[in-house]
Amino acid sequence: MFSIFKKKPKPIDTSLLEPILTDMHSHVLPGLDDGSPDVETSLELAKGLVELGYKKLICTPHVMSDFYRNTPETINEAAAKLREALTKQNINLELEIAAEYYLDEAFLAKIEEQEQLLSFGDKYILFETPFMNPSAFTDKAIFQLQSLGYKPVLAHPERYVYMYGKYGKLAQMHEKGVLLQVNINSLTGYYSKDAKKVAEQLIEDRMVSFLGTDCHHTRHINMLHKAKENPYYAAALNLPLLNRNL
Ligand SMILES: [Fe+2]
Repeated sequence: MFSIFKKKPKPIDTSLLEPILTDMHSHVLPGLDDGSPDVETSLELAKGLVELGYKKLICTPHVMSDFYRNTPETINEAAAKLREALTKQNINLELEIAAEYYLDEAFLAKIEEQEQLLSFGDKYILFETPFMNPSAFTDKAIFQLQSLGYKPVLAHPERYVYMYGKYGKLAQMHEKGVLLQVNINSLTGYYSKDAKKVAEQLIEDRMVSFLGTDCHHTRHINMLHKAKENPYYAAALNLPLLNRNL
């Protein structure tokens, strides 16, 4: 694999690079999914993200039929609770809502019936697919989202096992206009060696449009601190990331 680094790169001071002030992928809203279970935990995570330098979070709870039947109403309610708690504690962190849509039949139905979808920024829609097997609905969903003027954003492309060894498929999706969001923690090897490799390659190929924390719990916060010293994180910060327009 071609590498932009000739020798093993040394840790560098990423505080000198233009930071990302907005995170657009997290599970910090209380009681909606496998992220924060309650307001207290959400506050702890929010404080951790503020310490990391974030000023704004676009909160993206899972929307997945059978498991997480979140709606714009339930997500709004949870955000209101967390906003109130943040204000009480004088924590300066702006919250917006969106969602991480799991690409299943129910999501396709939502698109086809033109139900309200939670987009963010310039009509971006964050979606994920199953981890082990491709979804039969991917192409159709992407096409229909784009026809409706949405810009689909694939969450953590580096984490899909079925894509390993098929980097061309990711490149194809990117060419079709699907924006790619890499998890910052993938760069530390937190998820797997394969995820780390694909994330690095995507950065080298300048195919990354967004970075996200995908923060679920405090272990993720600790890792995010480590990731700040990662040379690929620095390389990613040098890309024209769309986080900066949110
Ligand atoms: Fe996520």
